[in-house]
Amino acid sequence: MDKLVLEGGERLSGIVKVSGAKNATLPILAAAILCENHPLVLHNVPHLRDVTTMLTLLSELGARTMLCDKHSLQVDARDLKQTVAPYALVKQMRASILVLGPLLTRFGEAKVSLPGGCLIGSRPVDQHLHALERMGAEFELNDGYIQGKVNGRLQGAVIDFDRVTVTGTENVMMAAVLAQGKTEIHHAACEPEIIDLANCLNAMGAKIQGAGMHTIVINGVKSLGPSDPYTIMGDRIEAGTYLAAAVINQGDITLKGIDPTVLHAVTAVLESMGAIITLNADGLRCQMEGRPKAVDITTDVYPGFPTDMQAQLMVLNAVAEGSAKIKETIFENRFMHAQELNRMGANISIDGNTAMIKGVEKLVGAPVMATDLRASACLVLAGLVAEGTTTIDRVYHLCRGYERIEEKLQSLGAKIGRLQDTFETVAS
Ligand code: UD1
Repeated sequence: MDKLVLEGGERLSGIVKVSGAKNATLPILAAAILCENHPLVLHNVPHLRDVTTMLTLLSELGARTMLCDKHSLQVDARDLKQTVAPYALVKQMRASILVLGPLLTRFGEAKVSLPGGCLIGSRPVDQHLHALERMGAEFELNDGYIQGKVNGRLQGAVIDFDRVTVTGTENVMMAAVLAQGKTEIHHAACEPEIIDLANCLNAMGAKIQGAGMHTIVINGVKSLGPSDPYTIMGDRIEAGTYLAAAVINQGDITLKGIDPTVLHAVTAVLESMGAIITLNADGLRCQMEGRPKAVDITTDVYPGFPTDMQAQLMVLNAVAEGSAKIKETIFENRFMHAQELNRMGANISIDGNTAMIKGVEKLVGAPVMATDLRASACLVLAGLVAEGTTTIDRVYHLCRGYERIEEKLQSLGAKIGRLQDTFETVAS
């Protein structure tokens, strides 16, 4: 199994191109199922394991995918006939549930393996199912599969989510695009990736209003039409992770390919820690001198502080001047990186959904283990600042959400490499 090896302490500087957003690409690929009459062409598609998993799922369903160039692809779902999303793929990526709404609305049936529990909590999909039931779907649970059926076409409905859910909002929005009549989604998630999905669908003739707000209104259409190729937004979590890398190593990094407005909650915290963040002709620049100052954080739905940046901010607080509390309100059990950071000399204790972090002057390199995608990013940041060598095991998590991370960090001056079995590729 691959490992990452880092030698800490190098000051990072330079320019990084942010890749397309994973969490926008996945629903937009699922939305290709809605295109009965034309292929969908996408630009700025990131090379990530989760994207490959979604493409494999679409291929299993009968779609044809073709790489146009390095980051552009065409998905042709005209001949798609299968409506089963198998366990083998869903267990690799919970976001596979995103095919449920599109399959149901196009074919009137879908069978999607129930995503199991995951390391960051139980993560149920009850909100997705209740909303689709209100639109006329009926579900049964058989052999670990959600089996959905619709008598005729899905009907527009008023959906009032009990809890804000990102993929739930996306699933219902996609289902409503081809439903009969008007759907109103209340307590919708407001994440920028939802706006990106709506923009892509509207470009094909969908009638979605209010994406990015708490109420989304969708007037169903009979079919979608062809559109110009759609360019996927930049990844705000990848961007935030590189900004955190600049802060932890007192660096000077400029990010290209990201809209700074979607990063506001993150940049505000980094500025409170002492970073100077400016927008210039090259992009979004982050300069840092000295140790960060400790800052309390509470994760929240957008536009609050994203849970997907919580682990990265924990490691910044771990080496900060002072003490801070981080409260995780979105997912249960999302502090597994704390133990690994403590193995590197951090002083973090956990009480329920709150982490108490006492900043230490230095971390020391150690063998550590990645437990999930963002925990892996946090350990990379720790390895960048730690004294000596850090070896991170189970880095396959990282490949789910960070495109060419070693290459990008190397270009900024980091000493990072990959150990493949016995073959060492540490950059010097
Ligand atoms: C999405 C993102 C993920 C991010 C998360 C929160 C994608 C592909 N993934 O995940 O990176 O960390 O939003 O910003 O976009 N819940 C229920 N019932 C449901 C649905 C959700 O109880 O039917 C709960 C979840 O367990 C969790 C909370 O609601 O505690 C938020 O989950 P949700 O917004 O649905 O996360 P995802 O869409 O899975």
